[in-house]
Amino acid sequence: MDKKQQRHLIGGPQTQAMLERGIPLFRNGLRYAREMERANQRGYRGPNQIVISKAEGDFIWDLDGKRYIDFQNGWATNPVGNCHPEVLAAVEEAIRTYGFHYDHPLRYELAEKLITIMPNQALPRFSFEVSGTEAAESAVHAALCYTQRRYLITFSSSFHGQSLGTKLMSGLDGDYNRYMEAWTGGVIKAPYPYSDHHPAGMDQDQYVDF
Ligand SMILES: Cc1ncc(COP(=O)(O)O)c(C=O)c1O
Repeated sequence: MDKKQQRHLIGGPQTQAMLERGIPLFRNGLRYAREMERANQRGYRGPNQIVISKAEGDFIWDLDGKRYIDFQNGWATNPVGNCHPEVLAAVEEAIRTYGFHYDHPLRYELAEKLITIMPNQALPRFSFEVSGTEAAESAVHAALCYTQRRYLITFSSSFHGQSLGTKLMSGLDGDYNRYMEAWTGGVIKAPYPYSDHHPAGMDQDQYVDF
């Protein structure tokens, strides 16, 4: 990495050392040097990343003790910030009480609570899943079985997860599904109706039909 590239990196030296340690270990490591080079050629900043030493509320710290505002608020959906004490206490109590089992009173309490906030109480039965990937697959499976249909329409630029099933439903770009052509089965990709792709002379309703 040259000096110019180094100047643009936000993490301190310990963070950089850890990131370099990951180059031979993780998938992104294979492309790291190439992405850096490409960014440099185009005049962009290279891929920037930090390794977290601590997270609390709206802040995170890198391995060098530098503090950042965490606009992402951690992975997935986390509107209450990092390490919220009520969340930590509830998780600890649940694990202490029920270990790794799932059929305990909290499952029933949560289902009953969800029914009360469900619009029109329209979907009153639950299947709790452990990730977004599983939730997306489970919803699609339920819909196929309920409608007794075999095909599925998804939007071309969407992300639903990293399992084989959700990869097929997703459509970020052509490379995402490379070597999986034979698996695409019943998934039909519809172009996403971005407003900037709106053909001239079509009104909004016609565009949606189109
Ligand atoms: C829209 C959407 N669906 C599914 C997923 C997959 O969720 P998970 O990583 O919990 O499997 C994500 C994750 O970012 C998502 O944004």
